[in-house]
Amino acid sequence: MTDRQGCDGKLMTIFLAGHETTANALSWTIILVSQHPEIEKKLFEEINSLIGNRPPSSGEFMK
Ligand code: HEM
Repeated sequence: MTDRQGCDGKLMTIFLAGHETTANALSWTIILVSQHPEIEKKLFEEINSLIGNRPPSSGEFMK
């Protein structure tokens, strides 16, 4: 195996391990929250108290 192939393999592992797990965790979180209206209400109230009615942006997490 060349250095380039080894490097490509490691990058693909990080990309796939990060993508699949995060996507699954987010999907299950949304499904479970949608099945528990009281939790959903509290979550929306917390989000609204932090950012109001405007849509969230990626910059939110940098603060
Ligand atoms: C909710 C998110 C995530 C969960 C639940 C999760 C879970 C795990 C678990 C359980 C392992 C150990 C697997 C094993 O040794 O059998 C692992 C390994 C790993 N994770 Fe994550 N992970 C998450 C997010 C990420 C992200 C965001 C990245 C990178 C951007 C990442 C990169 C990796 C890598 C590179 C390994 C090592 C793979 C290997 O040993 O070959 N993970 N993860």
